[in-house]
Amino acid sequence: MKSSIISTGSYRPKQVVSNFDFEGIMETSDAWIVQRTGIRQRLFEDESSVRMATEAARNALENLDASSIDCIIVATYTPDSFIPTIANQVRAHLGITNPIPSFDINAACSGFVYAYQTAHAYIASGIYKRILVVGVDFNSRYLDFSDRATSILFGDGAGAIVMEAGITGSIDCILGGETDTLETIRMQNMSDHGNPFVSRPLTDSSYFEMKGAEVFKFAVRVMESSVHAILERNKLTSEDVDLVISHQANQRILDSGARALKMPKEKFLSNVAEVGNTSSASVPLLLDEANRKGQLKPGMKIILVAFGGGLTYGTALLEWVA
Ligand code: UT7
Repeated sequence: MKSSIISTGSYRPKQVVSNFDFEGIMETSDAWIVQRTGIRQRLFEDESSVRMATEAARNALENLDASSIDCIIVATYTPDSFIPTIANQVRAHLGITNPIPSFDINAACSGFVYAYQTAHAYIASGIYKRILVVGVDFNSRYLDFSDRATSILFGDGAGAIVMEAGITGSIDCILGGETDTLETIRMQNMSDHGNPFVSRPLTDSSYFEMKGAEVFKFAVRVMESSVHAILERNKLTSEDVDLVISHQANQRILDSGARALKMPKEKFLSNVAEVGNTSSASVPLLLDEANRKGQLKPGMKIILVAFGGGLTYGTALLEWVA
C-alpha cells in the first residue's frame, strides 16, 4: 500500500520583521544577511504553537471532513507544553471527538520528514487510513537576540498535509543522523526544579544555540549524499526529479545542493527570503505554497529533504497526486 498527500495547508504569522528591523537592535546589516543567507524578512508569532498548528491544520482540511482523520502527528521542538501535546490540542480545537491517537515527535528541523515517514509507515501497514501531519515551530521564543549569527536566521510558522492510503504517491524515504555532532545545535531543557533526594547540575539556559558554519557543511553534505542515495536505490537520476522541496535554512545551502546534484536552481523551490528558517514548518510551508500556486502537477517526482539538530536528516521521494 502507498500513501499519497491529498491536501496541504499552512499558517504564516502576521508580524513581519525585516533585516532593517534587526539593524536597529544589533550590529548587522541587510546587505550581510541577504548576501550570507538570502533571507530578507521573517515572521514572528504572538500567540502559541498550538494556534499556528491548528490554523495550518484547518487550512489543510478546508475541503475535507475533520472527523475522517484517524491519527494526528505533529513535528515540533517548540511545544507550548509537553503535556498535553500540540497534537492533543489540535485534535480538540478541530472538534474531533473520535478517540483517535494524536502525538508530537521531535527531530528538530528534520522533524517534518520524520513525521511524514511515520505517517507513511502507519498507512502502508494498514493501521490508519487518513493522517493529518503538521510541522510547527515557535523559534522566536528561544532566540538569543544578542547572538547575531543565529537570531537573524529564524522565523515562526506551521504547515500541514493530509495523507491517505492510495495506489500511487510515496516512493521511498531515508532518515538518518550522526552521533558525533550532539553539540552542534543545542537547546537545553527548560526548567529543572531540583529534587531533594538527588544532587544534580541544574540547567539555566534555554536559548537555541548553533555552530552555524558546521551545520552549513553538514547540510550541504547530507543534502547531496541522501538525495543521491534515494535516487540510486530507485534507479533514477537527478534528471528524473521535477522539484526539490528542501528545508529552508539558507539560500546558499539550496544553491550548493543544486550545484552538487547537477540540477537547475529553478528545481529547488525557495521561500527563505520571505519566511526565514521555520524549522519543522519549513518543508510543509513551502509545499503548501507551491501547491496553491499550481506548481505541483500530478505525476511529478518530488524530493522532500531536511536537516538539522541532532544532527539529523531525512529525504523522501514521492509522486505528486493531489
Ligand atoms: O535549521 C538548522 C539548520 N541551520 C543552518 O543550516 C544554518 C547554517 N549556517 C549558516 O547559514 C551560516 O553558517 C550562517 C549564516 C549562520 C553564518 O554564515 P557564515 O558565512 O558561516 O559566517 P560566520 O559565522 O563564519 O561569520 C563570518 C563573519 C564573522 O565575523 P569575523 O569573525 O569574520 O570578523 C561574524 O562575526 O560574519 C560575522 N557575522 C555577522 N556580521 C553581520 C555573523 N553574523 C553576522 C550578522 N551580521 N548577523
